[in-house]
Amino acid sequence: MPKHPGAVRSGGQGPAASPDLSAEEVFSRVGGDFWRKILFYDSVDSTNDVGAGLIACAGAEPGTVVLADAQDRGKGRRGRRWLSPPGQNIYMSIILRPEISPRDFALLTLLAAVSSAGALRRVTAADVSIKWPNDLVLSGRKLGGILTEVKSGPDRTIHAVIGIGLNVNAWKKDLPDEIKEIATSLAIETGRVWVRTGIAAAILDEFEHLYKQLIQEGRGPLIRECRRLSSTLGKKVLVVTGKMRAAGVAEDIDDEGMLLLRLPSGEIRRVSAGDLEMLR
Ligand code: BTN
Repeated sequence: MPKHPGAVRSGGQGPAASPDLSAEEVFSRVGGDFWRKILFYDSVDSTNDVGAGLIACAGAEPGTVVLADAQDRGKGRRGRRWLSPPGQNIYMSIILRPEISPRDFALLTLLAAVSSAGALRRVTAADVSIKWPNDLVLSGRKLGGILTEVKSGPDRTIHAVIGIGLNVNAWKKDLPDEIKEIATSLAIETGRVWVRTGIAAAILDEFEHLYKQLIQEGRGPLIRECRRLSSTLGKKVLVVTGKMRAAGVAEDIDDEGMLLLRLPSGEIRRVSAGDLEMLR
C-alpha cells in the first residue's frame, strides 16, 4: 500500500520500471493540499488522454496528476507526435477546473511553461527559457513542450488537461535522427543524469504557487515572469498559424498571454497561438 493515499500506481504490479520516478515519491515531496491524487502508469497512450478519460468517466478531481514512464501515442501540438520512450523523460498531465474565463486559456499554457522553466532553473541551474507559447528551450534547442486541452462552456472553463513533456535523461544517441539537431535534454546539456521525481515535484510546487497567485492577484505576476523567462522577445521570428504566416519582431506578450508581433510595416499583430521559428 502506498504511504500516501493520493499516490496511486496504476497499470500493473511489480517493481516500477523506473526507480527514479514514482507517484509516492512525488506526492511525498509536494506540500499542501492542492494536489489531490498522483497516478503513475508504466505506459499509456497519452497522459493527456488518460486525464480526459478520468474526467469523462469519474469526474476526476481538479489537482489530479497523471504521470507515465512511457507513452505509445504521445501527442504534440498541431497533431504532431511526441516521442515518449521509457526510462528517460517526464510525461505528466495536470487536471484542473480553472477558475478563469475561457478568454484566458492561453494563460494555462504559459502557466505550465513558466512553472517548468522556473523549476528547472532552480533545480538544475540550467539556463532554461520559454519560446512563446509552449516550448521550453535550452542552448537554442527544444527541451520540452506543453499541450493544453480544454473543455469550456460559454463563459467558463469546465476543465483543462495541461500536458508537460520534458526530455530529461535522453542522451544524443537516444534522440531520433529527425530531431537530433533541434532537440536536447537536461542530461545532454548538463552532462549528468537527473532524478525525475525531484524535477516533477519541483514543477508541481511551482505550478501550485503560480496558479494560486493567478487566482488571487490576477495575470500581472505570471505575465511578468513569462517575459523575464522568454528567449523570444526582441528577436526576429516567423510565426505560423493555421491561418497565417508572418515574419516580424516578437515585441511583447500582452496581458492575455498573446504575442505582439511587429510586422515590417510597423503594424502590430496580436497572435493567440502558433509555431514560432527564430530568424537571424
Ligand atoms: C509540443 O511541444 O508539441 C507539446 C508536447 C506535449 C507533450 C506532453 S507529454 C505529456 C502530455 N501527453 C501527451 O500526449 N502530450 C503531452
